[in-house]
Amino acid sequence: MADTPRTATLTLDGKTYELPIHSPTVGPDVIDIRKLYAQAGVFTYDPGFTSTAACDSTITYIDGDIGELLYRGYPIEQLADKSHYLEVCYLLLYGELPTPEEAEKFETLVTRHTMVHEQMHMFFRGFRRDAHPMATMVGVVGAMSAFYHDSTDITDEYQREVASIRMIAKLPTIAAMAYKYSIGQPFVYPRNDLDYASNFLRMCFSVPAEEYEVDPILSRAMDRIFTLHADHEQNASTSTVRLAGSSGANPFACVAAGIACLWGPAHGGANQACLEMLREIGTVDRIPEFIARAKDKDDPFRLMGFGHRVYKNFDPRAKVMKESADEVLGLLGIENNETLKVAKELERIALEDPYFIDKKLYPNVDFYSGIILDAMGFPTSMFTPIFAMSRTVGWIAQWKEMIADPQLKIGRPRQLYMGDTARDYIDVEKR
Ligand code: CMC
Repeated sequence: MADTPRTATLTLDGKTYELPIHSPTVGPDVIDIRKLYAQAGVFTYDPGFTSTAACDSTITYIDGDIGELLYRGYPIEQLADKSHYLEVCYLLLYGELPTPEEAEKFETLVTRHTMVHEQMHMFFRGFRRDAHPMATMVGVVGAMSAFYHDSTDITDEYQREVASIRMIAKLPTIAAMAYKYSIGQPFVYPRNDLDYASNFLRMCFSVPAEEYEVDPILSRAMDRIFTLHADHEQNASTSTVRLAGSSGANPFACVAAGIACLWGPAHGGANQACLEMLREIGTVDRIPEFIARAKDKDDPFRLMGFGHRVYKNFDPRAKVMKESADEVLGLLGIENNETLKVAKELERIALEDPYFIDKKLYPNVDFYSGIILDAMGFPTSMFTPIFAMSRTVGWIAQWKEMIADPQLKIGRPRQLYMGDTARDYIDVEKR
């Protein structure tokens, strides 16, 4: 016998309304308020979406209380350990781990689409030479819709697929070009004989004047960074991509919108902000001053790389990232630099401080990723572009899921209007 559908009862001005409850495969139930305004004439109010599910999805699951992150059901720790980024991309896009034949086909497809249209080289040259790579990426990824017209018809499933592969393949090339441009070095073309992470490292760090050998430990750490950032449920940038896509905008434009959102220091920009903060602190003896500032209600300063909207125990990505940091710093023999000493001591103090314990503020993924990227030789301005290229697959998987949903509706939040009521225009001489 089928279960009786559950409802929540809302009583408002003496009338009652039955609101359906939906149960997920795992996680909290949701109350369906889609008909609430039509039936009761009220909106719900949830700025910051702290209690609102904006879509249904089968891609990524987070349990913030126990620090769990699953891609299509697979724990992030297992994927970071046993899988690699392109396999994770396949999993996120198509829902299952690939067979050896599927993996071979997918990896070949991505690898063979890493070059960008040659005219894009000219397009890059229009940017100021000292532009932040994120600024360049927002522009160049948006401009992909001008360069790749033949994959912008979102009603055509084949074109959606082509656009997806193009972005996953070309974003590392674009990110590396943005970096090379910002430091005045020649662009480096991708190479098909290298894996995804090694190819990216080479495009960033090689110069035509000499050969560049990719260190397998660094390439593994890079690949893990990509994997750990690949998707993260309905965060701000993913919701931006979905909202932009809900109007029918093409996928390049939507991903460019996601990159713009990611740039903010409360989101992906935190990795750059975190390392800059560690450098600003400079020496261990200055940590108490910064901890005091973070606690001061009148000071807007926050400890970057700490806290998360969803994780209230620990960030599972941070745990894996910390292991990688130890590995990479050990390999490079720089366990003892001053920034790292500050990071370790800051982490220790913050984890013991009642303010951080009470508010459940733990180091997040951005606390450690910046340390690794810095050790690898990336400037802080490249940290967020690396996050953006890693997250591109998540944005695309979420966008594709949304477009394929027959119930797709344009996203259109309502508001609690607190402005003036209707009033008559006042002629300028009477004001
Ligand atoms: N340092 C000091 N206090 C903090 C911090 C912090 N990093 N984060 C939150 N708080 C305090 C905040 O002041 C507030 O205190 P009170 O209740 O007394 O007003 C309380 O903790 C709750 O903060 P909130 O801003 O309401 O929480 P939120 O869920 O809206 O914000 C966050 C989450 C990640 C934006 C925030 O923790 C933050 O700004 N962290 C620093 C930036 C950062 O590291 N961001 C990367 C997030 S992980 C990567 C990603 O997903 O993009």
